[in-house]
Amino acid sequence: MCGIIGYIGNKQALPVLIKGLRRLEYRGYDSAGVAVLDKEKIHRTRAVGKIDELAEKVKQEEILGTIGIAHTRWATHGGVTEDNAHPHFGKDGKLVLVHNGIIENYREIKEKLGDKHEYKSETDTEILAHLIESHYKGNLREAVEHALSHVRGTYGLVVMHADHPDSLITARLGSPLVVGVGEGEYYIASDATPMLTYTKKVIYLEDGEVAEISKDKMETFNLKDEVITKCVEEIEWDDEQAEKQGYDHFMLKEIFDQPTVFEDAIRGRYNLEEGAAHLGGLNMTVEEMRSVDRIILIACGTASYAAMVGKYAFERLAGIPTEVDVASEFRYRDPIVNEKTLVFGISQSGETADTIAALREAKRKGAYVRGIVNVVGSTIARETDGGSYIHAGPELAVASTKAYTNMIAIMMLYALQFGRLRRITPATGQRLLKALREIPAKMNQILEQADKIKAIAEKYKDYKDVFFLGRGINFPVALEGSLKLKEISYIHSEAYPGGEMKHGPIALLSEDFPVIGIMTKDQLYDKMRSNIEEIRARKAPLLLIATQGDEGAKELSDDVIYVPDTMELLEPLLNTIPLQIFAYHVAVMLGRDVDRPRNLAKSVTVE
Ligand code: G6P
Repeated sequence: MCGIIGYIGNKQALPVLIKGLRRLEYRGYDSAGVAVLDKEKIHRTRAVGKIDELAEKVKQEEILGTIGIAHTRWATHGGVTEDNAHPHFGKDGKLVLVHNGIIENYREIKEKLGDKHEYKSETDTEILAHLIESHYKGNLREAVEHALSHVRGTYGLVVMHADHPDSLITARLGSPLVVGVGEGEYYIASDATPMLTYTKKVIYLEDGEVAEISKDKMETFNLKDEVITKCVEEIEWDDEQAEKQGYDHFMLKEIFDQPTVFEDAIRGRYNLEEGAAHLGGLNMTVEEMRSVDRIILIACGTASYAAMVGKYAFERLAGIPTEVDVASEFRYRDPIVNEKTLVFGISQSGETADTIAALREAKRKGAYVRGIVNVVGSTIARETDGGSYIHAGPELAVASTKAYTNMIAIMMLYALQFGRLRRITPATGQRLLKALREIPAKMNQILEQADKIKAIAEKYKDYKDVFFLGRGINFPVALEGSLKLKEISYIHSEAYPGGEMKHGPIALLSEDFPVIGIMTKDQLYDKMRSNIEEIRARKAPLLLIATQGDEGAKELSDDVIYVPDTMELLEPLLNTIPLQIFAYHVAVMLGRDVDRPRNLAKSVTVE
């Protein structure tokens, strides 16, 4: 996830671009860059680190010009270096561009362009710049259109050319782009936040559209070069609302981000034909991967519940015994770890002190130590010998939501990668991958029920205690649902495996103690149903998460939230979402500070 911005008008471009980048920084902040066209010369400045670093650097130069582009990066292809930071030039230094997205066939394009091209970075974006340049015959827009017809992947781009000081070309496929319409000026950006100080009039570019923008004109085309008429819309948000993209809280925005960022997590990391996954960052040879006889997943909080789902995947798909350890416990119990153990540290922030310490301990004992992390360049990302970013984008609400689903996505792919080396067939791999690819659409079907879930939350918000019940792979879902509710609404809640209820907790049940049961159609469905009958008999109010079409769930309960059917291993990716929405609405109705709950921190960097 990256943020891009372009400006053309009468103002000095540099301050507009730097200020705009600050508004987009939430989209990525490992490096940033800016390019401004002054007469025929393009000044480009880039810096690793936050926007402040770039802002400091540009102070030392005199960069004038009323047209420019800029970028804040969240590394996907290539490490975090100044060379990899955008904007990227083509071959002759006249064409420069910023890009958000992934060019999936960049290797093929590079091959076709041949050896006359020399690249300064490891990015797919630089290859795109060269590709556009190779199609350039005097008309920049046509060059962009021709080049894009050869591209597979996603992009939001802004292209600038030294020979075209009066126009910017922008194009979109799969990555957001908004154009702000001012008086004799235009702004282009990944979202509306950078332009709201100047204008509330915007035009949303759609997938497959290319626009040529000058100071006082914007013309939009499709990739067949047909003209498209666009409407100007008026944004009503203030600046803070805009950062939340119109959602009331970051948590709600992040819940709704899930289908999109899930695609970001899996994109380019599997091969459907082979039914295989290939996460390049693992840094292990096939022999090393085969030698692993135990996996330990170390994490805290929500990440540890994602890890519990991961355990199922590693054991079922790869047949490797897998343990989940809460980081603060692992480090103090003299764990048995050796050179055949693979330890994954799972963390959104990559900065959780206990997880870092546990990983250091595992490393000292000779294990392979890898990270599954969201924040690029974080301590865990740096200290482990490999691993994968989950590409969830910045998660700002303290209660974790989209990081959880993306952690599971990555563990599924790792389990598949190990599984294909050991036991599972291409056909099984393909089945899993097809089901994974269907997840975003199914997540959307759940998000469409948000209002219904809100109405259910209203009914349950005044209880003082709540139970969450699940079995098998849905037990971690119960734990996560319970954590979400207690951490943001402060309602006491507990989670148990369905079969454990009768060994004690059932004594608590009464008409004042509702149960939320996850009863989707997996191999433990009948067992779970019996547990639910036991609860019914104790007259506890009952809310069920059930599979679409399970009419019986309605008769058994007071309320049902239906979720689409999927492969059992993937159920947590769907079943957790209604519980996130439920917790969110209960907390809002109780007047809690949803994004910043009391006593909690987003990243716990102390023991
Ligand atoms: C804190 C946060 C939780 C998070 C946990 C682990 O407790 O409030 O939401 O799950 O830390 O954080 P990590 O960044 O390591 O995933």
